Amino acid sequence: MTTRSLLTLGLLASTAFAAPNWAATSTTTVTKTKTTTEHETKTKTTTVHETKTKTETETKTTTLKPTVTVTGSCSASAPLSSSTSVSSTSSASTSASSSASSATSSPSSVTSATATTSSTTNTNPTITKTATDVPTATASGLNVAAKNAGKRWLGTAADIPGTGEGADPYYLAEFSNANEFGEATPANTMKFFATEPQQNVFNFTGGDYFVQQAKASGKEIRCHNLIWANQLSDWVTSPAVPWTNATLTAALRNHVTKVIEHFGDDCYSWDVVNEPLSDSPAGAWAANVWYNTIGEEYFFQAFDAATQAVKANNLAVKLYVNDYNIEYLGNKSIATQGLVKELKSRGLQIDGVGLESHFIAGETPAKADQVANMQAFTALDVDVVVTELDVRLDLPATAASESQQKLDYYNTVAACVSVARCVGVVVWDFVDTYSWIPSTFPGQGYGDLFLQPGGANTPLVKKEAYDGVLEALEGLAEIAA
Ligand code: XIL
Repeated sequence: MTTRSLLTLGLLASTAFAAPNWAATSTTTVTKTKTTTEHETKTKTTTVHETKTKTETETKTTTLKPTVTVTGSCSASAPLSSSTSVSSTSSASTSASSSASSATSSPSSVTSATATTSSTTNTNPTITKTATDVPTATASGLNVAAKNAGKRWLGTAADIPGTGEGADPYYLAEFSNANEFGEATPANTMKFFATEPQQNVFNFTGGDYFVQQAKASGKEIRCHNLIWANQLSDWVTSPAVPWTNATLTAALRNHVTKVIEHFGDDCYSWDVVNEPLSDSPAGAWAANVWYNTIGEEYFFQAFDAATQAVKANNLAVKLYVNDYNIEYLGNKSIATQGLVKELKSRGLQIDGVGLESHFIAGETPAKADQVANMQAFTALDVDVVVTELDVRLDLPATAASESQQKLDYYNTVAACVSVARCVGVVVWDFVDTYSWIPSTFPGQGYGDLFLQPGGANTPLVKKEAYDGVLEALEGLAEIAA
């Protein structure tokens, strides 16, 4: 059980709840392995220099990330393009050198049959990883690479407006880079507390601003979320008059209906019910005000209201159930598959399952397990999306834990790439400065793709994790951590 699971359990009420019967006979198996390569031979030295020797049979256009010194402008992480040819007899040839003292960057030349990537990797990246990053053959951004891999987008959660990131020019420049992010998920602004602060009094100011910001750079929006245990308004959790099944059902349906109506087709999808299931026992219904008052029918009422709102407004918006600890084939995933089947058998709209994927470095499911799990969902004729990917570490990060983290990012993204109905991957924000992790999991952090060595409102630097995502999107085999 992850720290997050324990934390969430701690938040749950002690009310008894019954496991949905479709979870009754399943077993939980989580295999944690490291990826081995099939088509590449790579050797890795663990300290200053890395050497990759590749044998591939493909041609690709790549971009080499420049060496950067983090004292300049927000273009510190801008890539440079070059072209790399890979034939069946000669190997990818990518040579790039980085120097911590280098203030500018130069594209690598493609000169030999041996791919050599040299980098300066400090053993204490949280403190001194300020000027260099691991050079990697790249496309012009994660979203571009995701599209090239047949995915709809590579996206990110963002907590704007009204937050530090919403006022950080370096953050916003990267967020607005359509080559990096083709999707955006509002981390908070569309949640219940924000959209219906008083009963039947709606406030869409923050959500509308988010939509405007996301659409300004052509992003699709995974709207998040309609019904959840957390971040509710006081009038829901502390009602003046105790709820009955009928009054709370009416309130639930009204919220779902009005919010879907308001945002309409600005939403690519809605997470209709967030985190409906528990970890203890895994796959049982989670206790919350909805379940405790209405019982499991609350879940189907939410989807029924959503289905009707989509139809009544002639929308194309897709409806998802979203949860964590369903990224591998355990009881909770199997129970979620049961929910999908039940929704379908009731004729309700269910288009996809969101796999949150809040992982801990070194404790993530193996790529093969994630693929098998995704396929178990897609076999039910629904899509999957990796909706909230981050990989946290025990602080301080070390060179070893950062390498592990890169591999973990790689495995999840590679799993999505290899499953046709995995629509895309969304990271749960992209700069450590603004990550939800440190405040939620004390002692852990360093979970995102970028850092700001100078703190808020200073240039971003790509981490190894970024390269892991890009390498997965480009179909490159990963070096074992
Ligand atoms: C988190 C936000 O990132 C935080 O800013 C907020 O304080 C709490 O919620 N699973 C979800 C997301 O589905 O809505 C949560 O977002 C992270 C866990």
